[in-house]
Amino acid sequence: MGGDNTLGNGNDPVVPQASSASSATLSPDAISVRRSSRTKKAPVRLNLGCLRRMRCFLLGGKVCNSFIKRYFNCSSVATMSTTLSRQHSVYVTRNVPESGIQLLTSAGLKVTQWKHDAAVPREELLTNISQVDALFCLLTDKVDSELLDAAGGSLKVIGTMSVGHDHIDMEECKKRGIRVGFTPDVLTHATAELTVALLLATSRRLMEGVQAAKDGSWGTWKPTWLCGPSLQNSTVGILGFGRIGQQVAKNLGGFDVGKIIYTARTEVASCAQRVEFDELLLQSDFLIICCALTDSTKNLFDKNAFLKMKKSAILVNTSRGPVVNMDDLAEALENKEIAGAGLDVTVPEPIPLDHSLLKLNNCVVLPHIGSATNEARSAMSRLTAENIIAALNNQKMPAEL
Ligand code: DGY
Repeated sequence: MGGDNTLGNGNDPVVPQASSASSATLSPDAISVRRSSRTKKAPVRLNLGCLRRMRCFLLGGKVCNSFIKRYFNCSSVATMSTTLSRQHSVYVTRNVPESGIQLLTSAGLKVTQWKHDAAVPREELLTNISQVDALFCLLTDKVDSELLDAAGGSLKVIGTMSVGHDHIDMEECKKRGIRVGFTPDVLTHATAELTVALLLATSRRLMEGVQAAKDGSWGTWKPTWLCGPSLQNSTVGILGFGRIGQQVAKNLGGFDVGKIIYTARTEVASCAQRVEFDELLLQSDFLIICCALTDSTKNLFDKNAFLKMKKSAILVNTSRGPVVNMDDLAEALENKEIAGAGLDVTVPEPIPLDHSLLKLNNCVVLPHIGSATNEARSAMSRLTAENIIAALNNQKMPAEL
């Protein structure tokens, strides 16, 4: 999920890169207090009293948050006040969009970062988080008691740059009084867009078409070649009808689908109809998995589930790999128990190159890029930083678990 997987300037289309701001480097991988590039020409030497007076002036004069946000490159008065507290430290486990790093440094945090697109080796992570106040992590970093022990008693907050949080032992965090922030909402549209793209790529056999155009097997126009099922008048089933599931349903609004059904713990006011899981399997022409990974959704799609689905059904998974049993899916696709599958998530990730699913024409596999728009990834980085800053300032986090 490195920045180079994104289109254009993957790191941040809006906020200038931190590398252009002046900084005092602590070590090759560490960044200490950096000024925002908006202030890079004139060194900022504001003491505590000065900042407090300025904040009173701005608030007294009813100067709005957006002014503060633009001028100081921090999200709000609340965030600005963080610059007044003692210097805390945060460990960032990967190359992430600079917008988040800039917020952290602008807030006066000492940032140490694993500045690579590959995951930080576990040993390195365990060593580097010792005595930090905050951890900025990704869905690939397992946050368990081993990691929390390695961090020690100083760790106050974990900000994961993801909406999924199955990689975090929440019970253990609660027990230790560690607050956890995540990034809902800001990736909803990106993930829902990708879900529809993957559905169409699978049902309309886009990968086979691209391949044929490139390898010369196109030949002439053929009436029965590369045909697939239409969304029009179909029944679309959605498992998990939270933010992303509902947005997918909205996105499908222009396709004239016949009916949208969903399975979720609670009823949602919408024109879609809530059904039991078995009904979802039986009725869906397209079945889209948008649920979180929990003990009850793990391996939900196994042999038995595939046998209940229509032989013409297309399965799409943009949530978490373990919701689907991959071996059972390969068998179901080979035996034509279902017609096709589009997966943005697998077990493990990356999917092993010799996995049978990669050999099947009726399976499209993407490398977990649901939220990979420039805008979403930048917003995720910012929200993760805002969560951390708020928690270190003993304030309400924008998105706390
Ligand atoms: C998440 O946030 O959980 C996605 O899987 C990656 O954006």
